[in-house]
Amino acid sequence: MHVDDLIWPIFVCEGENQRQKVSSMPGVERVSVDNLAEHVRPAVELGVPAVAIFPITPTGLRDATGTEALNPENLMCRASRTIKDAFPDLGVIGDVALDPYTDHGHDGVIENGHILNDASIEILRQQALNQARAGNDIIAPSDMMDGRVKAIRETLDGAGYETTRIMAYTAKYASAFYGPFRDALGSGGLLNGDKKTYQMDPANSDEAMREVEQDLREGADMIMVKPGMPYLDIIRRVRDKFAVPTFAYQVSGEYAMLMAAIENGWLDRDRTIMESMIAFKRAGCNGILTYFALDAARLIRCDR
Ligand code: PBG
Repeated sequence: MHVDDLIWPIFVCEGENQRQKVSSMPGVERVSVDNLAEHVRPAVELGVPAVAIFPITPTGLRDATGTEALNPENLMCRASRTIKDAFPDLGVIGDVALDPYTDHGHDGVIENGHILNDASIEILRQQALNQARAGNDIIAPSDMMDGRVKAIRETLDGAGYETTRIMAYTAKYASAFYGPFRDALGSGGLLNGDKKTYQMDPANSDEAMREVEQDLREGADMIMVKPGMPYLDIIRRVRDKFAVPTFAYQVSGEYAMLMAAIENGWLDRDRTIMESMIAFKRAGCNGILTYFALDAARLIRCDR
């Protein structure tokens, strides 16, 4: 286990001098762009190689097709430029999906209650390009539309962003464990229905293998399994079968669950955090997106 294995997801909000607590994720904050450099400095100092940015779009800027996702001055782009200006060597990962920008909370566009796969991809590829232009090093499509990796790869290559990498949320399950994240983003209350027609069925592990195969064929550089701890078997299967760079996302609900027990004194904080990290490594992960990234980095450094 190394500090290099850790990626820190961060929430960015509008306004000035904001540091808002996320009630269902103790210790996690939404931070405004002017506070962002200070916010990520500890990650840089500890040697955490990358952060993943999640913007909170004000309700007034959300619409049916997620137009704000394509605005070069949107929160994601401003956050990305701010981090890159302050810390050029810190990797920046941008999530590609429309849910932070739509008024219905879905990851793509909806017609008659159905998600439109191909129409969504046309927007997602522009969203990816918008982020690459802002300086994101890694584009992480989390939308789960079919064929989006190929479309994004072509769009990036066509615009001269051949070296911008794609970390595909490949095996992303329709999970209850995303609840606190949707709180943090303010998209939970907006969500009409569920995401079961495009995210995966938790009962299905073979489909994860087919998704990995497809994303690799389409040009993904790295693949991700999400959530993390309840899906270690999927990570192991992916590693055994494909042996490609594989990442896990220890999601908001996993964090909330562990923190609730830690704060009640029911679990030992340091041991619990590190044991969960080791479990990801043991399952075969090359990297872990976790809200515990800074804590884990400190623990790893003390150990040395
Ligand atoms: C957006 C997205 C989600 C998460 C990461 N990207 C939520 C969702 O699909 O509803 C969840 C992360 C977490 O729970 O920590 N598509």
